[in-house]
Amino acid sequence: MTTNQRDPRVARSYAVYDEALELIPGGAQLISRRPTLYAPGLTPPYVARGKGAYFWDLDGNRYLDLMMCVGASILGYADDVVDAAVIAQIRDGTAYSVSHPLEVELARELVDVIPCAEAVRYCKGGGEADAIAVRIARAYTGREIVLFCGYHGWHDWYLAANLESDAVLDSHLLPGIRPDGVPHGLAGTCLPFRYNDLGSLQGQLEQHRGQVACIIMEAARGAALPQPGFLEGVRRLADEHGALLIFDEVVTGFRLALGGAQERFGVIPDLATYAKSISNGYAMGAVVGRRDVMQIAGQLFISSTYWSDAVGLAASLATIRELRRRDAYRGLAEAGARFQASFDAIATEYGLPLYASGLPELVAIGSRTGDPALTRCLKDYYVQELTRRGIFAGFGVNTCLAHGPAELGLVEAALREVAPLLRAALDAGDWEQRLHARSVDAFRRQVG
Ligand SMILES: Cc1ncc(COP(=O)(O)O)c(C=O)c1O
Repeated sequence: MTTNQRDPRVARSYAVYDEALELIPGGAQLISRRPTLYAPGLTPPYVARGKGAYFWDLDGNRYLDLMMCVGASILGYADDVVDAAVIAQIRDGTAYSVSHPLEVELARELVDVIPCAEAVRYCKGGGEADAIAVRIARAYTGREIVLFCGYHGWHDWYLAANLESDAVLDSHLLPGIRPDGVPHGLAGTCLPFRYNDLGSLQGQLEQHRGQVACIIMEAARGAALPQPGFLEGVRRLADEHGALLIFDEVVTGFRLALGGAQERFGVIPDLATYAKSISNGYAMGAVVGRRDVMQIAGQLFISSTYWSDAVGLAASLATIRELRRRDAYRGLAEAGARFQASFDAIATEYGLPLYASGLPELVAIGSRTGDPALTRCLKDYYVQELTRRGIFAGFGVNTCLAHGPAELGLVEAALREVAPLLRAALDAGDWEQRLHARSVDAFRRQVG
């Protein structure tokens, strides 16, 4: 098979994908759903249905999913309890001319479980929640500059970071994003600081003294965990400079603890944003925070028809209650720890320069090669061979409660088959012969 030729096992999926490439620019709505980022020609672009930790593609192949809808499906696909709550709601209608009281019921629940939450607003996704939080922070402080660390969605306020140099977002998001379409007037309004580097945050705050509205950050991401004192230092610097602290909990929320990263690490922001795991796969987002800060949202133009949709509200309530009832945080940690243990044991046995890092609830596979091109080959080969074995995987792993012993056993068995292949490729360096499916960067072609 030549490079990136299509595998006949996914022919139906790719026939639809060809149509999509004509009709849907980019082929998918979320960049992480582009098959070109995984094993092009082998990764199925389309799903027919999902249940628990599995999904079935259009050609009828089953995959055990280690990504779980970029982390959103924390209980597993088509969860019976959440879906029953949603179906019951749908029978009564989903969006009306007036609000549904589930808005208040969910707000009460969020205020109960999230340490910084005294008031709540809703929306439909993570990027939206971040845009709302930044708008609130700018309005509350009367300042314009935002300091950020991490990924915060697709909106103008954030992509403005790349206006002065298109490399600013490289280590926070994807390399090579051009901020085309973002007004040049926003240049200098969104500036980065480095994770676990209080000096870089302090430098930005001092350089823009009295102008910083907020610091928005992911408290943890993948392998990046806060060093002792880092988050506390960020909190202190925010207070000293009169800037609001926003935790983007779109990934960490309802995954690291019911109260998210702020509960896990014991540092309380002024505002926090949620999406993904809050609703187990139904469209939902939320901004929560200090009442005095949130209050201003009532006077701002922050408003959208579907933010009142009762499906997302019902799904969120059911998800949060199920997370609590099923003792989710023990289950997620156990599943992640078992994955990490098998991965590391097998990698060590075969002398692979790969390891499973991060918290068990947020596993990231790291590389010790020190050579980005070689790591890329290892990753592509790993993804290709796991996909062939019916495991949908990348270097980020999102466990869910449906990853039980049977599923983790399947993963371990597949890793046992794939590890010797990776070893042989490292020894022979014959990647060209082995890699039938090379991934392609979304915005920048791979170098090397
Ligand atoms: C930390 C973080 N913030 C915001 C977003 C954007 O969320 P959404 O894709 O729901 O707009 C993401 C998505 O991956 C994220 O990981």
